Amino acid sequence: MVKQIVNPYEVKGSIDYDKLVDEFGVSKINNKLLNEIEKNVGELHFLLRRGYFFSHRDLDKLLKRYSKGEKFVLYTGRGPSGSTTIGHLLSWVFTKWLADKFDVKTYFQITDDEKFLFNPNLNLTETNKLAYEAALDFIALGFKEENLDVIVNTNAADILYPVAIRIAKKLTLSSVKASMGFNDSSNIGINFYTAMQSVPVFLESIRQKKNVPVLIPYGIDQDNHFRLTRDVAEKLGFLKPFTINCKFMPGLKSNDGKMNASDPNSAIYTTDDEKTVINKIKKAQTGGRETITEQKKLGGRPKECNVYSYYDLFFEPDDNKLKTIYSNCVGGSLLCGECKLMLANKVNVFLKKHQIERHKAKSKLKNYFLKKDFDTIRID
Ligand code: TRP
Repeated sequence: MVKQIVNPYEVKGSIDYDKLVDEFGVSKINNKLLNEIEKNVGELHFLLRRGYFFSHRDLDKLLKRYSKGEKFVLYTGRGPSGSTTIGHLLSWVFTKWLADKFDVKTYFQITDDEKFLFNPNLNLTETNKLAYEAALDFIALGFKEENLDVIVNTNAADILYPVAIRIAKKLTLSSVKASMGFNDSSNIGINFYTAMQSVPVFLESIRQKKNVPVLIPYGIDQDNHFRLTRDVAEKLGFLKPFTINCKFMPGLKSNDGKMNASDPNSAIYTTDDEKTVINKIKKAQTGGRETITEQKKLGGRPKECNVYSYYDLFFEPDDNKLKTIYSNCVGGSLLCGECKLMLANKVNVFLKKHQIERHKAKSKLKNYFLKKDFDTIRID
């Protein structure tokens, strides 16, 4: 088995999430916490029910503050190294759900600087272009202008920089290097970058001139950044950010790692057309048997099947319908070909609507960008 590596710049191996909980020091989301969430908003998102969002930091404390009437803000983001995939959308759809249910505003950071600095094959023009493409995908989920601030790092540098340097002054090179897996030949820009990813945690507090709690939904690979942010927050007199963490959506090819935006064979993009989606899913790895006869006799293995996991994580929110797919697969009556086509249809129905909204977002894009309507200099 490939050794498990999880940090913002590398995800490898078959992931043992319990081990990550121990290593990273996050807390598991247990039934008590799920009940608390349900009590506050009246329902549970299926990604919580099904354990896709599986760990957190201080979410229980955030809910206490919220139930006493204190509002928080949400913050999430995307590193534009390729087109947006349905893996990205998954956690963003969840973020939108949180925004609606708790009735709070959202910051969305797109890190064209990070992907330029980290990836030897991408230039800044490309990552900046991809950043705008990613913004369209996020806005397409239905955020109102007044509830969303989109930050494209290189374009919002005048707002971010004064905050970033105050964070950077509290971060040592050795702590960044250790938690990101960098070494002495890593460039100095990528070492500074953690400061940039920390900035949105503090923006609402700076704006309101008082401490406002922030909840960050993210894939667990980003935890290394936010562990550092939490340390810095206290030193700068801010609240530590609260977090909720998700697992990875597998790619089309194997059960290992996560859907990789820079590999078209691994990812379904939000801009893929119907035919492409069908072809990609046809080639996806399943838990099926070698022959139809065997599959009818022994049944499929949904637990080892990427196609099934897409139903589970995204395209079949109805628990009963999901159960039917599961038992038909295990019972040998649902064969992979049929199951794949059924999934491709669901993906295409979703993407068709998404692509319409994405197109509409183009004309209003700039209304969503973070504006310099507050003072970031005088925050000492
Ligand atoms: N570094 C993240 C990535 O590569 C992008 C990011 C920036 C982000 N801020 C975030 C992700 C906040 C989650 C939450 O994808």
